[in-house]
Amino acid sequence: MIEERSQSIINQLKQLYPDFIIGTAASAHQVEGNNENDWTLFENKIGTIKNNDKSGKACNHYELYKDDFRDLSELGFSAHRLSIEWSRIFPKIDVISQSAIEHYRQVLSELKRLGLQSFVTLHHFTSPIWFMELGGFEKTKNLIHWKKFVELICQELGNLIDVFNTINEPFVYASTGYLNGIHSPGKKSLIKYFYVSNNLMRAHFQAVEIIRKICKDKPVGLVKNLAVFKNRRRNPIDWIITKIFDLGYNKIPLNSLKRKKIPFGFSRIKEGDMGDFLGINYYLIMEIGLGLPYFMNFFISGDSNLTQMGWGVYPYGLAEVLLRAYKITSLPLYVTENGIATEDDKWRIEFILDHLDSMINAMNNKVDVRGYFYWSNIDNFEWSEGFKPKFGIIEVDYSTFSRTTKESGKLLGSIAKFLRS
Ligand code: FCB
Repeated sequence: MIEERSQSIINQLKQLYPDFIIGTAASAHQVEGNNENDWTLFENKIGTIKNNDKSGKACNHYELYKDDFRDLSELGFSAHRLSIEWSRIFPKIDVISQSAIEHYRQVLSELKRLGLQSFVTLHHFTSPIWFMELGGFEKTKNLIHWKKFVELICQELGNLIDVFNTINEPFVYASTGYLNGIHSPGKKSLIKYFYVSNNLMRAHFQAVEIIRKICKDKPVGLVKNLAVFKNRRRNPIDWIITKIFDLGYNKIPLNSLKRKKIPFGFSRIKEGDMGDFLGINYYLIMEIGLGLPYFMNFFISGDSNLTQMGWGVYPYGLAEVLLRAYKITSLPLYVTENGIATEDDKWRIEFILDHLDSMINAMNNKVDVRGYFYWSNIDNFEWSEGFKPKFGIIEVDYSTFSRTTKESGKLLGSIAKFLRS
């Protein structure tokens, strides 16, 4: 059954988009270990992370990247999405670390040597401490430091990067860091949420401009998390609340990109250009309703059991969000993240096949999707949830840092390999 389904996925993808790539994704802070950024400070505050976990040495990927990439290449993958840690490159406002640049040069060269395309994210949730002390993305004038970072990466590493991702999930960053405060820097302010969202979109437009100038031929795009919202009950109040969520999370951000303007504000100024593609991160369905015992309840469920994140699985939603993003932006799309946190690897296999089918469904409806990246290649530090959620297709023993490939990794790798050949 699994083999037949995989074969059918391979056949359809080969037909729909012969250059389709299947890869994996991770971010620097979640896997590298020994980072010193705003999250390092955040993790040290009691009660911010489940079990008071700290990223610490994480997966020790900073030292073991060669082993990790070899595993991916041997499994059959053709691409890997990773991020460059800004705080390593600029440990101080006016200090550039040549050794960090050299490290990432080797990391990217290794991917090249193994024939893995590199999708490089420039900002994936973490920032240097000095940048946050200046007010981070709350202040538009701080974007000058962001631009310097992007310019430097283009100049120093641009020739080794295949595809640029500017900002990972700007609205998730703004809402978790500045609205509900569950991520660094742990603030709770609607005004700050608006400022940060606006500045992150500005940061995206600026990065596109810089990359176009310095790394002319390199594709660049934003990465946006999209979710499906359903009203829990069929009553007008739940319906309205659901619409508000959908507007804030999906519609306003996609329109901001399309109109090339900041999402919240009255500015008529076009800030730049959208980029060459849009990366979509898709994980869950949220059922929303108003109810007791709280004023507002967020019921997160779906057709199945909840994952270790408490998320509801809804494969068909992937087709829905791809169709929607394509309709609004007309940009080519990549699924830059999709994955499940579970110890049950059989469930992961089912999850992957169901989501690939759903993506193919969107492609059959003329949506231009060019790649799929599973989150994540290895189990890792899942932000405020600590180390408990297991997203990886490769398991990590955190006491020895040894890796063991799960069956799901072998399966997805074999699909990727068929497409590669
Ligand atoms: C996404 C993040 C990624 C990871 C997954 C599970 O929102 O981009 O870093 O935490 O969720």
